[in-house]
Amino acid sequence: CAGGAGTAGGGGGGDDVITVGFAQTGSESGWRAANTESMKEAFSEENGFDLVFNAADNKQEAQIAAVRNFINQGVDAIVIAPITVDGWDDVLTEAKDAGIPVILEDRTVSASDDLYASWVGLDFEQEGKTAGEWVKENFDGKGANLVVLEGTTGSSAALDRATGFDAAIEGTDITVMDSQTGDFTRDGGKKVMEGYLQKYGSDIDVLFAHNDDMGLGALDAIKAAGLVPGQDIQIVTIDAVKDGMTALANGEFNFIVECNPLLGEQAAELVKKVLAGEEVEKATIVEDQSFTQEQAKEVLDSRPY
Ligand code: AHR
Repeated sequence: CAGGAGTAGGGGGGDDVITVGFAQTGSESGWRAANTESMKEAFSEENGFDLVFNAADNKQEAQIAAVRNFINQGVDAIVIAPITVDGWDDVLTEAKDAGIPVILEDRTVSASDDLYASWVGLDFEQEGKTAGEWVKENFDGKGANLVVLEGTTGSSAALDRATGFDAAIEGTDITVMDSQTGDFTRDGGKKVMEGYLQKYGSDIDVLFAHNDDMGLGALDAIKAAGLVPGQDIQIVTIDAVKDGMTALANGEFNFIVECNPLLGEQAAELVKKVLAGEEVEKATIVEDQSFTQEQAKEVLDSRPY
């Protein structure tokens, strides 16, 4: 399909190539690398796509500018992994006015759901809840002190994980000493953890990191402070990418809640259906699991990412 702003839902039929603009958040984490790979595989030439890829380096304005570019180029469809929940109304309205359907993958937006065709992603609130339930089970009644490494400020992943986690530990005697963003990166996790260790030292019993990468960055800070991760400070994270699962199997992490990055096939399927004028679900939630140290040892070799 040649594309063109006026081809509302008209691409995707027959043997035509479907031009898709994909606005990725950036390359902040191992999870993101796996997600990008899954998307590139699914939106491949062999599958009938011409993918125009943009990674916005975790900057919301850059991501919105990329989407605007896709609209101007007249792509057939746009896929977005939105960095933050807010700020999408204008550009999504522009895409709608241009007749270009938008599919969201991974994170959600606060804009009205008639501004996009469909979303495929994870239940971040449940992920946070599962992490919180593990902390509650292992630390309630012990007067434990906890610190949090939050994901990107204003992202649905960080907001919803915090909501789920806080609800799970509510009513316990666990004290949340501090909670700051590490922007989902290793460097960010390391820096914020160094600050926590300077401030609270060995009073910290538990770390909840919103993703593996920040937890992995924190490992360096904990070791440099002369403490033993997994023992002096127990660590709960989210994602279950290879490096995180290795730390769990080695006993440096204590529990991981999975966040499945392999969303490409479902996103590509949604694009094809929407362009063919078929009815699609507004929201598709992909299942996650969770892992203890023992479970990580069992599955480590078979993890695909
Ligand atoms: O939106 C999903 C989150 O984004 C992942 O948990 C994190 O690693 C990534 O950067």
